[in-house]
Amino acid sequence: MVLKLSSRINIFLQQKGQGMAIFSKKSKFTDMEKGIYSKSQLEFLLSLELDSTESREAFTYKEMRKVGQDQKRGEPLVVMVFNQKGGVGKTLTCFNLAAISHARGKNVTLIDIDGQANLSKLIKEVGENNVYNFIKGWRTRPDAYDAITDYATEIMEGFRLLGSGAENFNASSYLDRFFMRESAEDEGEFEANTEQFVSLFQKVKNSKEKNDIIIVDAGPSRGTLNQFFFSCADVLICPLNTDEFSYEGIEDLLESREFSEEVYGINNHCEIRFLINDRDQEEDLDAFIDSVSRDPIVGPNLLGTFLPKSKYFKKSIKEKTPIFCLSPDMPKHKKNYSAKDEEINQEEARLAKKEFMDSIKCFVDIADEIDKISLMETKESSRSSEVNATFNW
Ligand SMILES: Nc1ncnc2c1ncn2[C@@H]1O[C@H](COP(=O)(O)OP(=O)(O)OP(=O)(O)O)[C@@H](O)[C@H]1O
Ligand SMILES: [Mg+2]
Repeated sequence: MVLKLSSRINIFLQQKGQGMAIFSKKSKFTDMEKGIYSKSQLEFLLSLELDSTESREAFTYKEMRKVGQDQKRGEPLVVMVFNQKGGVGKTLTCFNLAAISHARGKNVTLIDIDGQANLSKLIKEVGENNVYNFIKGWRTRPDAYDAITDYATEIMEGFRLLGSGAENFNASSYLDRFFMRESAEDEGEFEANTEQFVSLFQKVKNSKEKNDIIIVDAGPSRGTLNQFFFSCADVLICPLNTDEFSYEGIEDLLESREFSEEVYGINNHCEIRFLINDRDQEEDLDAFIDSVSRDPIVGPNLLGTFLPKSKYFKKSIKEKTPIFCLSPDMPKHKKNYSAKDEEINQEEARLAKKEFMDSIKCFVDIADEIDKISLMETKESSRSSEVNATFNW
């Protein structure tokens, strides 16, 4: 099939190798669909090698998704990104992981459970149709939705957002009753609470039937909303800054999970992966990796990739655009170059491209890791025994 070249593709082909996709300056998240990708870019994003007989140079975003859909699929997963520390890159990770997962052909729902609503603002503010209203409302209309993600807003084909709202405190305290058995006044109330807890849990689990991946962006707190979603998660990704080695919040979550197991009979053990964020470059990265690798909790669950310090992360957030839809900042071409200037320019261009590609690669690696988890056989049982063995607190 010969792809008809539009002017957009022509621009792209002229700049081939310099960027991932070409957009207007004001591109937004939903412009992803307009992207045009070269064969090598597509291979890079999807971590695969295309058949070498494929002669086309350019692929539309839709075609890229189709290639991704044809790859081997695992089980759908609920992936929660959490650390009680603020500013460690949770929202950045959710946003870019969701975008890459969608480009790979997955049906994605993002759930923003952080009252700051940072993620929702990057994509679309969804008003009343938010996770808190769902949680509060499901009691009065328990049969309205089978799955929590049915309540989400469709942003584009295969991509939905269940956004955040300012009422998060209400939702969190509403959920408190499930985590504090003492708050129930009598046995009847406790039973009713149990039933509700299990039914809400079920609605999150039912969401997997309609999605390939559900990504939950948690706020920096140990509140009950986070505890509840942890009970539902199949994978927890915990970003860590190199100067603040902290997973205390996870200890709390694990306790709350034990509680929901004991009290509500919910047994949903998840894979935990730690993700180093080298944002501050305060410590020697190798020394830090070396020290955390020896930690019995973090070491065995450290992701094989890390978030490098990158200006493209800030740019991704500022321009509300996934990194792979941006372009690297190339040095400006001046007139009357000397040979030395040209050399400096080329080196700057090389470094810009490297920083840019590294900023995408870390999310591609995380997506690969999640694919691996989703393909694990006898997922539930192997996962729980593995976590039990590793997380013996
Ligand atoms: N490695 C990095 N290099 C450069 N900037 C980074 C890096 N990691 C994170 N940032 C920037 O730091 C800011 C905070 O990141 P982000 O909002 O993802 O953190 P968070 O953990 O979600 O914060 P909160 O706990 O408040 O929700 C963002 O502007 C992000 O682009
Ligand atoms: Mg955040």
